[in-house]
Amino acid sequence: MKTLLNLSVAALILAGGVYLYADDDHEEGEHHRSSVVAKPLSKQDQVSAALYKKECSSCHMAYQPSLLPKRSWDKTMNTLDNHFGTDATLDPSDHKTIQNYLASYASKNDRLVDMKGAVALRISETPYFVRKHREVTKKMVTQPQVKSFANCNACHTKAESGSYREREISIPNYGRWED
Ligand code: HEC
Ligand code: HEC
Repeated sequence: MKTLLNLSVAALILAGGVYLYADDDHEEGEHHRSSVVAKPLSKQDQVSAALYKKECSSCHMAYQPSLLPKRSWDKTMNTLDNHFGTDATLDPSDHKTIQNYLASYASKNDRLVDMKGAVALRISETPYFVRKHREVTKKMVTQPQVKSFANCNACHTKAESGSYREREISIPNYGRWED
C-alpha cells in the first residue's frame, strides 16, 4: 500500500549519535527502511563522548546530542547550577569539552526540533517528540516504572545505544507497542 509521505523516523547508532531522519513508508509491514551515512568519530570526539556519558548519565541516560539543537544544549550547559532542581555543575575543563561535543553533534534539522523561537530544554517539548508520542497515554508515562518522558530507556529498550525503532519499544505493564 502506498501511503502519503509518512514521517517515520528511525534512529541509528552511528558515530556515537542518533541520526533522526524522515523516511517514506512504502510497503505495509516495511517500516524503517533506512540509509544513513555518517562519519566516524575522531579519536578526540570519542574521548569527549565518553566524558559526556560519564558526567551526564548518573541521573538519567546520556541523551544523544542529535535529539536537540545546539541552542538547547547551550542553554542546558549554561544553567547546570539549576538543572531541573538539581546541581549538575562540572569543572570548567569538562564543561567546555562536553559543551563542544554536544554542539558538534546537535540536530541541524530545524523541521524536527524548531520551537518557533523558543529554546527547548527538554527533548520531550519539541514538536517532533510531541507528534511521535501523541498516542502514548499519561498513565503509561506517570506510572512508577517510567515516571516521566525523560526516562526514554524505560520504554525504548535500546535507547541508550541510540536506537528508537518501534519494534524495540516495550512499555512497562503494557508491553510491546503495536500500531
Ligand atoms: C544530579 C542529577 C543530574 C545530572 C548529573 C544531570 N542531569 Fe539532566 N536532568 C536531571 C533531572 C532531575 C531531569 C528532569 C527529569 C524528569 O523530568 O524526569 C533532567 C533532565 C534533563 C534533560 C531533559 C530531558 C527531557 O526531555 O525531559 C536534558 C536534555 C538533560 N537533563 C541534560 C543533561 C546534561 C547534558 C547533563 C550533563 C551536563 C545532565 N543532564 C546531568 C538531573 C540530572
Ligand atoms: C512511556 C513510554 C515512552 C517514553 C518514556 C519515551 N517514549 Fe519514545 N515512543 C514511545 C512509543 C509508544 C512510540 C511509538 C508511538 C507511535 O508509533 O505512535 C515512541 C516513538 C518514539 C520515536 C519515533 C520512533 C519511530 O521509529 O518512529 C522516537 C525517536 C522516540 N520515541 C524517542 C524518545 C526519546 C528520545 C525519549 C526520551 C526523551 C522517549 N522517546 C521517551 C514511548 C515512549
